[in-house]
Amino acid sequence: MELMPFVLSVLFLSCVHGASSDSRYFTSMFTLGDSHIDVGNFLIMAAQVMPALTVWHDKPPYGMTFFGHPTGRVSDGRVTIDFIAEEFGLPLLRASLLNNSDVSRGVDFAVGGATAIDVDFYERNNLVQFKLLNNSLNVQLGWFEELKPSICNTTQVNTGCRGCFSKSLFFVGEFGVNDYNFIWMAGKSEDEVRSYVPRVVKNIAMGVEQYTNGCSPTMLTLRSNSSKTDYDHTGCLLDINRVARYHNSVLRVALGVLRRKYAHARIIFADFYNPIVTILENPGRFGVVGADALRTCCGGGGVYNWNISALCGMPGVPACKDPSAFVSWDGVHYTEAINRYIAQGWLHGPFADPPIHNVIG
Ligand SMILES: *[C@@H]1O[C@H](CO)[C@@H](O)[C@H](O)[C@H]1NC(C)=O
Ligand SMILES: *[C@@H]1O[C@H](CO)[C@@H](O)[C@H](O)[C@H]1NC(C)=O
Ligand SMILES: *[C@@H]1O[C@H](CO)[C@@H](O)[C@H](O)[C@H]1NC(C)=O
Ligand SMILES: *[C@@H]1O[C@H](CO)[C@@H](O)[C@H](O)[C@H]1NC(C)=O
Ligand SMILES: *[C@@H]1O[C@H](CO)[C@@H](O)[C@H](O)[C@H]1NC(C)=O
Repeated sequence: MELMPFVLSVLFLSCVHGASSDSRYFTSMFTLGDSHIDVGNFLIMAAQVMPALTVWHDKPPYGMTFFGHPTGRVSDGRVTIDFIAEEFGLPLLRASLLNNSDVSRGVDFAVGGATAIDVDFYERNNLVQFKLLNNSLNVQLGWFEELKPSICNTTQVNTGCRGCFSKSLFFVGEFGVNDYNFIWMAGKSEDEVRSYVPRVVKNIAMGVEQYTNGCSPTMLTLRSNSSKTDYDHTGCLLDINRVARYHNSVLRVALGVLRRKYAHARIIFADFYNPIVTILENPGRFGVVGADALRTCCGGGGVYNWNISALCGMPGVPACKDPSAFVSWDGVHYTEAINRYIAQGWLHGPFADPPIHNVIG
């Protein structure tokens, strides 16, 4: 079961502040999240827990633009955190489940399909009809706790902004995405989905700025019998974006609380929604032909080039010639070009509050 996020939430945490022109200011980076920044954990976990599950993003043309082969990333090349790592002279993060011994410069805990609410909630309430990987935000935080002793001398003080994480960048991405996705897919109404928002937000322990995408080719195809009035002027689905805006407002409140509570930390809210809106409002400026703005680069036909019987990675399913001229790579995830644009907007503005570079000077 490939997962179809359409809501994203991203948050950076850092202790670093004050002027610095040193591009290597961060000495390590630790990332939690879902498929948008997964660099291989889903493939490892699925192979161990659900060996019968067929996945497609371990096959070409995934990775065609940058790595030249599939890496477990769900894109044609690098994902946003790769561009952040490059910016600070850090190695591209490896998947935590590889058990790579050297995690001193960081590691990626993100797993495709990860939820903000623990997975047994979805199973217990029959919201999903398939087995979920146990990969929620709490589980990922647990992995981080387990790994800490090998990163840090735990006998030394390492609380607040002292100790060996004081020059680390923490990234909390995309939680809430799959939660809403599962609930929409269970056929719940907009009001019902709305009713889960406080719970999801509560579970996003650290709070997040919010992004949604009722614009994904996957959702648009699955809802293709919607009526004209269900879409906004860029062709995106209104109800999905309304719930996300509500989620936004709840999260904004949570942000204020967090900033007061963790006054010593720098909390950056990075926005995934507005970069996409910006592109969809004016695709030509980004080298995307208007007619392709909501179509996937890699896919097997249909209005949005997203076909559940012919997904990217399945035998014979073609990719477009130039992924950089598309927004969506496979119907859910963005092309490397878009990931780069988003990452630049987080580093330098305008898509982060404050931009990462403003935090370090
Ligand atoms: C990594 O270590 C965990 C815990 O010891 C183990 O369950 C898992 O199989 C290991 N992963 C790989 C890829 O070897
Ligand atoms: C998921 O993993 C956590 C931590 O290892 C564990 O406490 C929990 O019981 C697991 N949940 C499920 C549904 O397997
Ligand atoms: C860990 O920190 C303690 C206290 O500062 C120190 O005594 C000890 O030697 C350190 N151990 C390692 C392996 O660095
Ligand atoms: C299409 O519309 C019908 C009637 O409104 C609805 O029952 C059905 O679930 C819709 N199908 C999809 C794929 O959205
Ligand atoms: C979707 O893929 C299937 C299997 O390849 C194909 O038979 C069908 O025509 C495709 N649908 C569209 C709309 O292209």
